[in-house]
Amino acid sequence: MKINVLTLFPEMFSAVTGSILGKAAEKGLLEFNFINIRDFSNDKHKKADDYPFGGGPGMVMLADPIFGALNSIDAKGKKCIYMSPRGRVLNQDMIQSLSEEGELTILCGHYEGVDQRVLDYWEMEEISIGDYVLTGGELAAMVLIDSVARMIPGVLAGEESAMEESIYSGLLEYPQYTKPRSYEGMDVPEVLVSGNHKLIRLWKLEQSLELTKKNRPDLFDAFVKNHGDFTKDEQKVLEKVLK
Ligand code: ADE
Repeated sequence: MKINVLTLFPEMFSAVTGSILGKAAEKGLLEFNFINIRDFSNDKHKKADDYPFGGGPGMVMLADPIFGALNSIDAKGKKCIYMSPRGRVLNQDMIQSLSEEGELTILCGHYEGVDQRVLDYWEMEEISIGDYVLTGGELAAMVLIDSVARMIPGVLAGEESAMEESIYSGLLEYPQYTKPRSYEGMDVPEVLVSGNHKLIRLWKLEQSLELTKKNRPDLFDAFVKNHGDFTKDEQKVLEKVLK
């Protein structure tokens, strides 16, 4: 997947080009193209924003440098996203479908937003990462890039993607433990070292159900209504958690 990012702060993106996504880029699974919007300003001071027509607080990003940047990558007709607290809130279904695109172009706004004509002409999909306001779209774009990239086959180790398909999908993850078996008087749950794979699976399901019920009752209710085929034992676990 090719990912174009239009930003006033390209240096911020070193946070995603390191580690796992950097390795994916080396393997040819991802290609990053960071474009500094200011490079396309025709103003001698490299101005990228101006006062809003009709008044109001803050500055608005100019259409012209953004049009220049988008024309330079032939973005017309391709998937363009504008990170904005006004957009549809990102979720795993949207992430999955974005991961199936061959190319994504992401515009990061600053100040009070961008000239609406940018969004209209380039048919930008507005996406928010949650009901709070950041100082700019860069951190939001990094959240989107990271969450989309990990869904691309080959970017992560196999086990994690398989997880999404299992009976746990739609539930929060169960607790994890590693060595040592006893730490500062706290022991790893006995079942996890029992070697009984069936009991381990049921324990993990129960933990996931309990956590989801407590932290995300909305997800829990949806899971109870829509979960796939359960074995008798799994059904018993669910009934215990429902009590
Ligand atoms: N820019 C500022 N706040 C944002 C948010 N919550 N999501 C996406 N982009 C943003």
